Parts: sequence; C-alpha cells; structure tokens
Amino acid sequence: MNRQLSRTDNLIHQFDTVLRTLVPHAARPSRPSPAANIEETSMTEADREHTVGLMRINHTGEVCAQALYQGQGLTAKLPDTREQMEQAAQEEVDHLAWCDARIEELEGRTSLLNPAFYMASFGLGAIAGAVGDRISLGFVAATEEQVGKHLDDHLQKLPSHDRRSRAILEQMREDEAHHERWALEAGGARFPLPAKLGMRIMSKVMTKSVYRI
Ligand SMILES: [Fe+2]
Ligand SMILES: [Fe+2]
Repeated sequence: MNRQLSRTDNLIHQFDTVLRTLVPHAARPSRPSPAANIEETSMTEADREHTVGLMRINHTGEVCAQALYQGQGLTAKLPDTREQMEQAAQEEVDHLAWCDARIEELEGRTSLLNPAFYMASFGLGAIAGAVGDRISLGFVAATEEQVGKHLDDHLQKLPSHDRRSRAILEQMREDEAHHERWALEAGGARFPLPAKLGMRIMSKVMTKSVYRI
C-alpha cells in the first residue's frame, strides 16, 4: 500500500513538474529576477521583436533543462550528487520563470514547440541517466557548455540599451557555468568532439525554429 502510495505521489510530482514547465507563468522562482530593480527602456518595434525572439530561445533552453534533469532524475543513481542536481534544477526553474516574465513584459509569447522539445530532452536525459552516472553528468556539463555559448552570443546580440534582459542573461550565464563545473567535478565524462558537434547541430535546429515559432 505504502509503495503504491509513494509511486502515485511520485507520478503526481512528475506531472506537476511537466505542467509547471509547459504552462506559461506557472513556474515559481526561488530568487527574484535580476531585472527587478532595473528600469525599462523604450524600444523600437524591431528591437522588441528581436529581443522576444532571443528570450524565447533562452526560455525553450530552460524548458529543455527542466526535462533533462527530470529524465535523469528518474534513471540516474547519483547517490552523492542528487542534492546538487536538485539545487541546479531549482536554479533552472528560476531561469525559466525570469525568461517567461521578460517575454510577457515585452508582449511576446513563448514557443509553440516547447512540448516537442520537452519530450525530446526528457528522453535524452532518461537514456543518459540509464547508461550511467559518468555519462549522465557529462551530458549535463556538455549541455551547460552549449547553453553558455548561446548566452554569450545573445548577450552580444541584445539591443545594448535593454538592461533588463541583459541582467537576466548575465545571471543565467553565471549559474550555468557553475552547473557545468559542478557536473565535471562530480565525475562527469568530458564528451568527445563528435558528440559535442551533434549537440551543436541540434541546438542550431532549436534556435532557428524557436526564434520565430
Ligand atoms: Fe538555465
Ligand atoms: Fe544550468
């Protein structure tokens, strides 16, 4: 009976994570947005649309991060690092909520493709977790490295006067670098170049589609 209950509890918890990630404005951040005390600046329509496109990509990246951590959480053992993984996953919830709020402020919308990216990332996370902890943590590190590169690129591409979006991306950049370091220090395998190249191609497909859809 107890086992049955905890399995049901777990199922509800998993489903709750899916809803909180995919339903707009449902994610609850644990830290205030880095943009909280920064004044809004006026933007041209072209700048606003461009910024929404970039923030939409970052938001989808965070949807993928949620799914990745959730998939891994189901299959990985990670006896010593589970707590750190949960902490990282909570920081990803913050990123998700901050991007979501910024997109709303700019009167944009999040990507319609999020459910598809969620499912794909969940599957990849679950497979990596099942293969073994070294691969699973290596996958986190390689993903965070990729996300860091995106963020650097977006920090260059943002309209220079949009300090609110910039503050969010800068804090995310710092957190992601921390996640990458943690995953490697915890014993994550360094992925070989071809695997990283595959991930780069996948992320190109994501960014190209999500910027518009
Ligand atoms: Fe993140
Ligand atoms: Fe991260």
